[in-house]
Amino acid sequence: MYDIVIFGGTGDLSLRKLLPSLYHLVKKSKVPEEYRILCISRAPLDRVDFLLRVKEKLECFLGDDFNYTDWKRFKTILSYIDIEFLENEGWDKLNNFIYSEDHRGKQNIIYYLSVAPALFTPICRQLKKNNLTPKNSRMIVEKPFGENFKSAYKINSVLSDCFSEKQIYRIDHYLAKEAVQNILHLRFSNHLIETVWNNQHIDQVEIMVSEQIGVEGRAEFFDHIGTLRDMVQNHLMQLLTYITMEVPKSLSADHIRDRKIEVIKALEPINRDNISSHSIRAQYLAGEVNGKPVPSYKEDLKSVCDNIKGTGETFVALKINIDNSRWRGVPFILKTGKRMEKRLAEIRVKFNPPSNNLYGTDFGNLLVIEIQPKHTVSIQMMMKQLFGVDEALATHTNQMEIGNNEAFLYRIAGDYEKLLSEVINGNQAFFVRDDEIMASWKWIDAIRNAWTTTDQEMKTYISGSNGPNFDK
Ligand code: BG6
Repeated sequence: MYDIVIFGGTGDLSLRKLLPSLYHLVKKSKVPEEYRILCISRAPLDRVDFLLRVKEKLECFLGDDFNYTDWKRFKTILSYIDIEFLENEGWDKLNNFIYSEDHRGKQNIIYYLSVAPALFTPICRQLKKNNLTPKNSRMIVEKPFGENFKSAYKINSVLSDCFSEKQIYRIDHYLAKEAVQNILHLRFSNHLIETVWNNQHIDQVEIMVSEQIGVEGRAEFFDHIGTLRDMVQNHLMQLLTYITMEVPKSLSADHIRDRKIEVIKALEPINRDNISSHSIRAQYLAGEVNGKPVPSYKEDLKSVCDNIKGTGETFVALKINIDNSRWRGVPFILKTGKRMEKRLAEIRVKFNPPSNNLYGTDFGNLLVIEIQPKHTVSIQMMMKQLFGVDEALATHTNQMEIGNNEAFLYRIAGDYEKLLSEVINGNQAFFVRDDEIMASWKWIDAIRNAWTTTDQEMKTYISGSNGPNFDK
């Protein structure tokens, strides 16, 4: 039996991602009755209004996957209660639900904090105070997990006061992406790759996540947080650790996470001494994306409110060195930005030229892992220009795509659906451990600190471009 309790149950994330994911999970389950889903928000809503709201959103977000037969079953396991999270009263409603006659608290309880980070602490404290954190409960925490080392430390302290680390699941939805999980398979099940995966053979690695969207409805939040904290501290850091970690002893959650944290601890600091050569921060100007004119970042902010400072970066590039024997000397270029030319997440691993480079080719070999929109791995090889009469000796590049990118015969589970099912299975491998979060914040804080104390230039780039580059 599983009780899934969503704090912020009528909020955007819940209606757009969590409930549609649970709809699919329950639909796949042979025994849907083994689930109870409780949404909790602050607004008093009667059951009819709550169900109407959920149904309307499921129809919208599930599209053709929504049908009335499944909805009829799904709604029987849905409940709603309102609690004012900052008040002491009202928690008995949750207590009654969890410890009701027919369940008596024997089921696994999965809490999901889909609320503003300021509410993490009061909610956890109330759960503990009301005896709602038994050993068979798990807590899922949504990002942003703090906004610097200090705030993340506070959240971690409260969480660890209420739950053991084995009960805590910190979400980074990049870890649910098929092509991200595939990095481990690719690295650790191919001798061909394993043997060349180091600074003897690799010249440079580029990790790029570009988006076409701008700050959309999140102008105020975004301007405060900026891309470094919104994307690099979490998603790009996950990609970097997957690409560079040592082979874990096993696939157990802790063995994998031990290896990831070693990498973060080996990152050379980017600080006042090297900030201008190792980082770029920038904001988008007006331009065109997909053939459509789009306003600048500053205009996007103004359309929401005149008082937003406009100091958040929408693009970051970092040049990273990893100080360990496998990677010393290999630059890792991380780049991410909004309103860029394409929506693309990929990792490009460039191999050294051959030692006796008879054909004079450079960077002939590339391994490209595309994470989205496609989920492919491709290898670039230099080959003879076949049948080239005048170019008997010419080589040219050939890119070979491996991996199935054809239309799938089955529905691909979404990121949140996969993560929720890992929580149900009790597998923490695709969730972020406390020490990892703390180590990455420490490293990121130094960059922010250097940006401010050295008054690092905020560059600009035209929307629809690829953003600024490091000088050669
Ligand atoms: C979120 C960020 O975590 O990830 C957003 O807050 C960003 O700003 C999003 O747009 C990108 O996720 P994806 O899966 O679309 O690459």
